[in-house]
Amino acid sequence: ISVIKGGSEQGMDRLGQNIVVKGWVRTLRVQSSITFFEVNDGSCLSNMQCVINSDAEGYDQLESGFITTGASVSVEGVIVASQGSKQKIELKVAKVNTIGKSDPSYPIQKKRVSKEFLRTKAHLRPRTNTFGAVARVRNALAHGTHKFFQENGFVWVSTPIITASDCEGAGEQFCVTTLIGDGIKSSANSIPKTGDSSIDWSKDFFGKPAFLTVSGQLNAETYASALTDVYTFGPTFRAENSNTSRHLAEFWMIEPELAFADLDDDMACATAYLQYVVRYVLENCKEDMDFFNSWIEKGIIDRLNNVAEKDFVQLTYTDAVELLLKAKKKFEFPVKWGCDLQSEHERYITEDAFSGTPVIIRDYPKDIKAFYMRQNDDGKTVAAMDLLVPRVGELMGGSQREERLDLLELRMDELKETLNKDSYSWYLDLRRFGTVPHAGFGLGFERLVQFATGIENIRDAIPFPRTPGSAEF
Ligand code: 4AD
Ligand code: MG
Repeated sequence: ISVIKGGSEQGMDRLGQNIVVKGWVRTLRVQSSITFFEVNDGSCLSNMQCVINSDAEGYDQLESGFITTGASVSVEGVIVASQGSKQKIELKVAKVNTIGKSDPSYPIQKKRVSKEFLRTKAHLRPRTNTFGAVARVRNALAHGTHKFFQENGFVWVSTPIITASDCEGAGEQFCVTTLIGDGIKSSANSIPKTGDSSIDWSKDFFGKPAFLTVSGQLNAETYASALTDVYTFGPTFRAENSNTSRHLAEFWMIEPELAFADLDDDMACATAYLQYVVRYVLENCKEDMDFFNSWIEKGIIDRLNNVAEKDFVQLTYTDAVELLLKAKKKFEFPVKWGCDLQSEHERYITEDAFSGTPVIIRDYPKDIKAFYMRQNDDGKTVAAMDLLVPRVGELMGGSQREERLDLLELRMDELKETLNKDSYSWYLDLRRFGTVPHAGFGLGFERLVQFATGIENIRDAIPFPRTPGSAEF
């Protein structure tokens, strides 16, 4: 349908052509001598309006109720100018054939059904305007992502999904420890440790605790230490028990890693990448973006155009704390130097203080950040950066990595309660053998989809959301 509708003036250049359209019936309107039905095949937002009367081949299928909302059909006919105001062209049907009829219980009958309801029908929701558009924009964001990194000489690296390390050190990993035979099953609320004597590790599939990855970064660092600029694009998992509109248990992350680079290079890369993908969807998803602009978030196109063109704001964590302390607004979580910024603080910064511009905050206190971040000379902060955007809050988190072996080992020793240095000898090897300054960041792909479409809940930015208590479909 997009090929037919996408021509000049929505298909007017195709008048008189004979075509076949295969898709699913969206609406059906029976009038005395003529019937209209709309077909969509997911190639674009537009439906093909089909006009049928009793002399068309297969008309009896309409009379016997084989053509209803949700049915799959093949329609043959000629393109004519439409009398209606909604579309320029329509299909005058010569022949129609029902491929699969649709039971009257088809749940997506009404034009507007709530997103909450559609989450319970995740297998059928891509047939709605909103979810079809989200799927196409998500696809364009993925394509734009690969295009950006490939055009800039980055090598795509596949990092493992099952791993023994905890990159972020937050203890939010899903355990995949699987005992073969009759060993003792690990309890779900205590993460097993290698030395745990209640477990017979000789019977474990991996012989030691294994988890679903929270980030591909540590593995990406190994490839950056050989190929210079690399990126990952894959699923990541977090057993964070937070039921918010920005958290998923399973989400996709894009993690570039740049060698011979510092935090400034990292921030420049993050900015260029975000501006590139935003521009990419504005240029390649015009019809879907117009839809979001009208129905999901008024003004989103202007907002994204601004993001693509204007410089982002940069400030240090220390300055951000100052700014929050001076704010007139009362926050639920009080701010003081050393605290983690909450989403209310992040939103205040991007939405109120800098009226809608993305903001990069850098140089966070080392105690609230991960072990691998490079220590700044002040001894209190690390070379970390978070990129915040309006509505979504944190879209990216990144840092320059500690490339100095002695300092990294010192930090790991300080954190020995939660971090087992022995299992990171391979990571330390990167600092032993030809270490280089390097930096990278991770972007939560579903948060990018939220940002680019205006979709409010992250559960609607991924086809099959995984959240606490929900792993259906
Ligand atoms: O800030 P995070 O935890 O950073 C890392 O994992 C680094 N290892 C990345 C790197 O430097 N290579 O996560 C990165 C991003 C966040 O900014 C956020 O957009 C997203 O991942 N994210 C989530 N998205 C959805 N659901 C969750 N539970 C998320 N947790 C993080
Ligand atoms: Mg973060």
